[in-house]
Amino acid sequence: MKIIKTVSQMRKLSLKWIRQGKSVGLISTMGALHKGHRSLIKQSREENDISVLSIFVNPVQFGQGEDYKKYPRCLQKDKRLAEKEGVEIIFAPSVEEMYPQGYLTFVNVENLSSVLCGNSRAGHFKGVCTVVNKLFNIIKPTRAYFGQKDYQQLKIIERMTKDLNLNVAVIMMPIVREENGLAISSRNSYLSGEERRQAPVLFNALKKAEEMIRVKKETDSAYIINQMEHKVRSQSKAKIDYIKICEPESLKEIEKISGEVLVLLAVWIGKTRLIDNFLIKGDE
Ligand code: PAF
Repeated sequence: MKIIKTVSQMRKLSLKWIRQGKSVGLISTMGALHKGHRSLIKQSREENDISVLSIFVNPVQFGQGEDYKKYPRCLQKDKRLAEKEGVEIIFAPSVEEMYPQGYLTFVNVENLSSVLCGNSRAGHFKGVCTVVNKLFNIIKPTRAYFGQKDYQQLKIIERMTKDLNLNVAVIMMPIVREENGLAISSRNSYLSGEERRQAPVLFNALKKAEEMIRVKKETDSAYIINQMEHKVRSQSKAKIDYIKICEPESLKEIEKISGEVLVLLAVWIGKTRLIDNFLIKGDE
């Protein structure tokens, strides 16, 4: 496994792979790798000749007062995991390499970026799209793998890829969970023991919505959201940012459930903001 730190070295390699007709899978991460990332790496290895793992804590996707400084950084541990999983290349540039002095260009997907998490985290998705676009240009992947946990991020990247005619297949991989249902995330490491005990409430609220939609055939979004809110509020450390039911492609909120819907929520558990979602099929 090779570790590449500069854009020019990475570009040289990706051009070589193109000439050789090799397919390249990209797993873009901010490091602090976990089982969720491992599932993306596995899929990439099955589908491509070469898998590149990018590790870059992207400053431009963090807002003021967010956790950029304390975001877990553990390159040595990440290297060991990546090596064990058979990654060929780690691309781990510095901030100066990605955003040299005088950097001015940003990519924004309108509308989709200002709702849900975009509403609470102004500029977040502009930062995500900018860095993902740069990674796509530098690495030129055939396929790029993203987890369903960040569903809105994935839809925005899909849209950017389509609108900007980027030649990359964006692939969504299922959420990987702890046994208690908690969606695995690098930010779970911030949780105290008691917060960890309470954090599966996001999953439990989604299960509640699933039961109401699938079993009880409930179609009133407002009522389902109300029941979910009730569940989340039963945990003392939980504070709701949002709970929504949306159309899975447009991310527009829906009042009456029919066909497949996206139920998603963002909840603060103490000082840690967690997100989760289910795609649920109601009656047509
Ligand atoms: O999901 C993440 O870890 C980040 O948002 C990503 C896609 C690596 C961009 O920095």
